Amino acid sequence: MKKIGILTSGGDCSGMNAAIRAAVRIALRSNIEVIGFRKGYHGLMRGDAILLDNRSVSGILHRGGTFLQSARSREFMTPDGQQEAVDRLREMGIEGLLVIGGDGSLTGALVLHRLGFPVVGIPASIDNDIPYTDMALGVDTALNNILYAVDCIKDTASSHARAFVIEVMGRNSGYLASISAIATGAEYALVPEQPYSLPDICQQLRRRFEEGRDNAIIILAEGAGNGREIGDAIKDAIGFEVRVTVLGHYQRGGAPTVFDRLLASRFGKKSMELLMAGVSGVMVGLSNNSIVSTPLEEVIAGEKLPHDEMLRMAEVLGI
Ligand code: F6P
Repeated sequence: MKKIGILTSGGDCSGMNAAIRAAVRIALRSNIEVIGFRKGYHGLMRGDAILLDNRSVSGILHRGGTFLQSARSREFMTPDGQQEAVDRLREMGIEGLLVIGGDGSLTGALVLHRLGFPVVGIPASIDNDIPYTDMALGVDTALNNILYAVDCIKDTASSHARAFVIEVMGRNSGYLASISAIATGAEYALVPEQPYSLPDICQQLRRRFEEGRDNAIIILAEGAGNGREIGDAIKDAIGFEVRVTVLGHYQRGGAPTVFDRLLASRFGKKSMELLMAGVSGVMVGLSNNSIVSTPLEEVIAGEKLPHDEMLRMAEVLGI
């Protein structure tokens, strides 16, 4: 193998740069040329590429986001677009592609593999909704961002005797919400995986208020309801003030944590070793602290197991 391509696709997250750096360094040690496509599959289809040498990946390990930039490409979703991408890779003399991204990006990687092009994937999404890996890249950093924000908000909640509904990301997954609820000591985690009763929550908050506990933190996963509506419902039913905070894209950025830097380095190294060994159509993942690989067919057809133990813990340790 003489030339390999790398792209980052879908929602950015911290650790993507560290993964690119590790993959490039491993390839260069074997005298393989590395090409980085800008803006994910969009850049791939246009041949928008830069040569990645040792210098181009130095000084990026600690930076959030992705210096290759990312995008969600509509054109790549079509069969014509997908064939065009393979044609472009072949025209450029690229013999393998590393795709770093979430479930949509990995689905794209599987399509390329099915079209006969060698691909390996790295799971990267703060949602932690990708099966066959305990953790995806960016999850730990996002959790630490949430922790910092919730700790700050708790100070105001207790100073002003207020309840806060804090909406976190996660798409259809409640992972960020339940883990951050445990780690911040929140009263409630509202997640899509578990039905909840707003009247019951209001009643419990009201009772707490009467007992003299005049503040509360409710962490809401974005897939489990609308923060403003829930805030309004609680405000009407309990004795103290309610404020709603939507953390939004703040959660996705920032310097990666030690965990994410290490995971990214391990994922980057392993994925490049697999590509160089001629393996295609797999995703690297973390399982019991070991780096494993799973066929993309299984990853895309699979479902992330619900994090039941954490959901229960958030409930038991909450209100
Ligand atoms: O998948 C990552 C994620 O941050 C989700 O948690 C969120 O729902 C979505 O992306 C936001 O997408 P965008 O950045 O396109 O607004």
